[in-house]
Amino acid sequence: MARLVVDPAFVVGGLDRRLFGSFVEHMGRCVYTGIYEPGHPTADADGFRQDVLALVRELGVTAIRYPGGNFVSNYDWEDGVGPKDERPRRLDLAWRAIEPNQFGTDEFVAWSRKAGVQPIWAVNLGTRGIREAVDLLEYCNLPAGTSLGDRRVANGSPEPHDIRIWCLGNEMDGPWQIGHKTAEEYARLAEETANAMRRVDPGLELVACGSSNAGMPTFGDWERTVLERTYDLVDHISLHAYYEPRDGDQASFLAAAEEMDRMISAVIATADHVKALKRSDKELTLSFDEWNVWYQQNFPGELGLPIREVGPLIEDTYTVDDAVVVGSLLITLLRHADRVKIACLAQLVNVIGPIRTEPGGHAWRQTIFYPFALTARYAGPTVLRTAITGGPELDTAAFGRIPALWSTATYDENTGETAIFVVNRSETDKIDLEIPVTGHVARHLALYDEDRSAVNTADDPDRVQPRTVDATEVVDGVCRATLPPASWHLIQLSS
Ligand code: AHR
Repeated sequence: MARLVVDPAFVVGGLDRRLFGSFVEHMGRCVYTGIYEPGHPTADADGFRQDVLALVRELGVTAIRYPGGNFVSNYDWEDGVGPKDERPRRLDLAWRAIEPNQFGTDEFVAWSRKAGVQPIWAVNLGTRGIREAVDLLEYCNLPAGTSLGDRRVANGSPEPHDIRIWCLGNEMDGPWQIGHKTAEEYARLAEETANAMRRVDPGLELVACGSSNAGMPTFGDWERTVLERTYDLVDHISLHAYYEPRDGDQASFLAAAEEMDRMISAVIATADHVKALKRSDKELTLSFDEWNVWYQQNFPGELGLPIREVGPLIEDTYTVDDAVVVGSLLITLLRHADRVKIACLAQLVNVIGPIRTEPGGHAWRQTIFYPFALTARYAGPTVLRTAITGGPELDTAAFGRIPALWSTATYDENTGETAIFVVNRSETDKIDLEIPVTGHVARHLALYDEDRSAVNTADDPDRVQPRTVDATEVVDGVCRATLPPASWHLIQLSS
């Protein structure tokens, strides 16, 4: 028997709703035949798929990073604005596909408005630099009256796009990145780009590139070098991480939240080290602007791809276990809500996405859609610390001995509702859980299956769905729930 204690007095921090962000890259079918498909039966006058827009709203996504990813590091934003029939077809060096440029800056902002999400823009610091960044900022955010503001107006957007969050490049530490840089090279460029962008608008939120993953040889040192130059100029440092089972070790994969947790703690420590060096009062926050499960072992790498038209790329089909892991990663982000202010599930549609589409056909929810949508829907404004006692522990090859249960909670002082998010990471054992409470159970939704490899497909799109657990109830001030092996749960308690 495990006991979970939660109390509104034990606050982690306020929940920034941008934690429920996602990511749209010009990669594979994320844009073309994903969110944008003129001629699709559900397409609106702009060519935006309404079936996908409906799922994006249901997913509860709040912010979207765009246009890459690796794609951005050789992207000329000017190619994607103006009359569509005059836009060039260009070879995208990141994914070696021919980019038709039928969807660009103005289309993305229009799509974001329809989806009800805040756009987050990444600028190209690979093949371009300060000039391109401030030009794009002028095009997007200045009113009519400058050459680029006027150009946006002429292209059909009279009002400024008013994009508030800007990423200074993408994964610049990665040798695969077009225009890859050393930490010092990137730090100088990011510093000067941030300086110039703040001349246009001092109130922007800027994100400096952190490491591409915690396994990079420069992890830690990269963040320190970049922040020593940019600490006063940026608001956030980015983190990226993708998780997958390695060498068939499903037990460690189910515990991937440990890896994310350790990465976040390491980046916070590094940022705070720079804060101390600078005798600064400013607290830097984190933008975990790419995270997900990604079976990278199945991806041949971009150099294994022929030059071709845009088509399917890394369309991973997610299992029940993958959904449990995604749920546990969200729990980790919430546990760090005091420092993680932005997070982007990468990506949104088709390309390692929670939403899948068929060109000209249906759109459906992958398994990982559900823990994301339910966390976004039920998480309240204040994140609370949870304490678990008496629960079993697991031995994992990757992380050593860890608790089987991984949890967080949120509280809404207006409604008195507490939402508990908890994962049982044991592959073999169910866990009986007790939660001392004063109210009653409003709902218990769970994701698990006898067949942990079950997936949703075009032919069987609803094979995996959340289940309502009716047996969970409060008796004598204690909520009792049973958590099957490898399962994700939302337990909402009303006062
Ligand atoms: O999301 C896929 C790719 O993963 C992105 O383009 C890149 O930033 C990361 O390496």
